[in-house]
Amino acid sequence: MKVIVTGGGGYIGSHTILNILKETTWEVYSIDSHINSTPETFDRIEKISGKRITNYNVDVSDFKALKSCISQIPNVNGIIHFAALKAVGESVEQPLLYYRNNIQGLLNILECCKDLKINNLIFSSSCSIYGNVANLPVDESTPLAKTESPYAATKAMGEAILSDVQKSQKMSITALRYFNPVGAHESGLIGENPINKPNNLFPVITQTAVGKMDKMSVFGVDYNTRDGSCVRDYIHVSDIAKAHILALEKSVERKNFNNVQFYNLGSGNGVSVLEALNTFEKISGLSLNYELDERRVGDVEAIYSNSAKAKKELGWIPKHDLEEMMSSSWKWQQQLEKEKNA
Ligand code: NAD
Ligand code: WQD
Repeated sequence: MKVIVTGGGGYIGSHTILNILKETTWEVYSIDSHINSTPETFDRIEKISGKRITNYNVDVSDFKALKSCISQIPNVNGIIHFAALKAVGESVEQPLLYYRNNIQGLLNILECCKDLKINNLIFSSSCSIYGNVANLPVDESTPLAKTESPYAATKAMGEAILSDVQKSQKMSITALRYFNPVGAHESGLIGENPINKPNNLFPVITQTAVGKMDKMSVFGVDYNTRDGSCVRDYIHVSDIAKAHILALEKSVERKNFNNVQFYNLGSGNGVSVLEALNTFEKISGLSLNYELDERRVGDVEAIYSNSAKAKKELGWIPKHDLEEMMSSSWKWQQQLEKEKNA
């Protein structure tokens, strides 16, 4: 199998490449413009796996450059398309950037699949397309809500585009709807390294713990949840990575091309913000400097997944619990501190 991973320099892409290198004999290439990562990721991948991955520094929203790049790699069996911008707040400020990058990028990937006869595509979707849901947990039949941000809109539109293309083109398309990917590789040598001030809970926690941030806020403690803080479905990035291998294997075996295959990828456990903080304090033995703050605009109260479909059809079984998610994030943050002080 020959596979292209777009966004291989990023958080989930790099963990997926590592998983592919460890568990398969696939030949893997990356296409990443490093708009939100650095080439150093590939040094880290090499350090862990002993293998050097070729990354093409190409913007997937530039059709000519993308097609010329993919044409250099003959007989590609599948593309795992991670490359997208993902900051919800930034997407509200710069919607055109998000639509151009994420939608144009997807259109170009699909056009290349058609022209170059690449028959399998795995697309990174997001639980953000479900919005505020009345009934939990959400499964793939839960109706999609009105999207709350241009970012979420690019994922909902992306799925709609895929559904139309699937009807017209004999290729196998899978959209994986990730809940909240967190954690880091077991080696502690690679993980999420936000270039700007982080917005997501886990990097905020670990950066507060090392003093990179003075203190952190718990956004809202008056929600209708068991302790008043928001509930989310955190899922280890290595479990998310594994699902891509299973989804691509399944995609290649497929005989029926009528519909896009949609899968939720979550642990199925709702965890509140305060529970996440307590778990961090437990695994680290540290006391976090946090305050109870106002609600954050745009947050949904609670969401968690029913991932039975991915378990049944892909054989996907998440292996890492919340403590492992937290301790691997912490190990990675400490590694970054060590490197900074070296
Ligand atoms: P990331 O920013 O760490 O990785 C994305 C990578 O894609 C980066 O290396 C970036 O440089 C690259 N990229 C972006 N636009 C590009 C372009 N036009 N051309 C070439 N490269 C480009 O993000 P991530 O967390 O690894 O997310 C991967 C995918 O998963 C994204 O599509 C994201 O929307 C989706 N997703 C992420 C989460 C999450 O919480 N991390 C949740 C749901 C869905
Ligand atoms: C989790 C909880 C915050 C920071 C986002 C995207 C979503 C998807 C996953 C890409 C919330 C609370 C956070 C802090 C806090 N990404 N929090 N203090 O918002 O569930 O989802 O990432 O597709 O589209 O929206 O994740 O990690 O930002 O927040 O109290 O400093 O932690 O209010 O309840 P979210 P998150």
